[in-house]
Amino acid sequence: MSQFAIYPSLRDKVVLITGGGSGIGASHVEQFCAQGAKVGFIDINRSASEELVARIAEAGYTKPMFFEADLRDIAAVKECISRFAAAIGDVDVLLNNAAHDERHRIEDVTVEYWDDRIAVNLRHLFFAAQAVIPGMIRKKKGVIINFGSLSWHIAMGGMPVYVTAKAGIEGLTRGLARDLGPHDIRVNCIIPGWIMTQRQLDLWVTPESEKEIEQNQCLKSKVYPDDVARMALWLAADDSRMCTNQTFVVDGGWI
Ligand SMILES: NC(=O)c1ccc[n+]([C@@H]2O[C@H](COP(=O)([O-])OP(=O)(O)OC[C@H]3O[C@@H](n4cnc5c(N)ncnc54)[C@H](O)[C@@H]3O)[C@@H](O)[C@H]2O)c1
Repeated sequence: MSQFAIYPSLRDKVVLITGGGSGIGASHVEQFCAQGAKVGFIDINRSASEELVARIAEAGYTKPMFFEADLRDIAAVKECISRFAAAIGDVDVLLNNAAHDERHRIEDVTVEYWDDRIAVNLRHLFFAAQAVIPGMIRKKKGVIINFGSLSWHIAMGGMPVYVTAKAGIEGLTRGLARDLGPHDIRVNCIIPGWIMTQRQLDLWVTPESEKEIEQNQCLKSKVYPDDVARMALWLAADDSRMCTNQTFVVDGGWI
């Protein structure tokens, strides 16, 4: 990491990350810890999360706090956020990162499945924000970063509820940015392209899709979780202090 920026304004910041146990979220956790931030993360995957905490401690950084919860359970999300704030302090930076990109066919979607996918991909972003906003107002400053997706921008099929949720996240970002701007709370959305997490490599990245990446990205290298996390660092730091109400795309130039 030494060739990349260190942001003095991130030192000691209280940073909460949803879905921090694996994938891009784990990269956020590692990168914010490496900046000297006080990090907490919520995830449903206990083993991956505990491994991550151990790895970070081994690297010599302050251990992040792991909260095990299902983000579809809003009462549990609020309880985790209260426990984190009670232990460390009001949250300065919220990364609404968690999602689940399970594929589904139009004809198989029931009302229950629709509600479940919206709960895992959209609903908790609003309620996590709602829970941290009073503390940010007290601190007269805050940053909320939501994670969208290139999928609906490129009219991707095979997961209509996921893309609906991801489109909604951009609307949520702009609505919150307007309401929270007077409190100096900045709200932005990062749109990751196709990011080479272990899950993507295991499930979806094939020799054919590698060709697709090469054809569609302007830059021909693959995009990795750390590339997305570094955008989140900049958006969380004072370096971006007048940026709000925007989307920032990290996709190698696909959309
Ligand atoms: N990887 C990509 O190519 C890609 C592309 C576009 C957008 N994104 C977005 O970036 C963000 C991170 O994606 P990722 O690829 O790292 O995802 P991932 O599926 O690899 O990881 C998501 C994390 O969230 C956790 N999680 C999932 N459901 C949960 C629940 N109900 N409660 C608590 N935790 C839960 C998982 O355990 C996991 O640690 C997501 O918002 C995703 O939509 C990713």
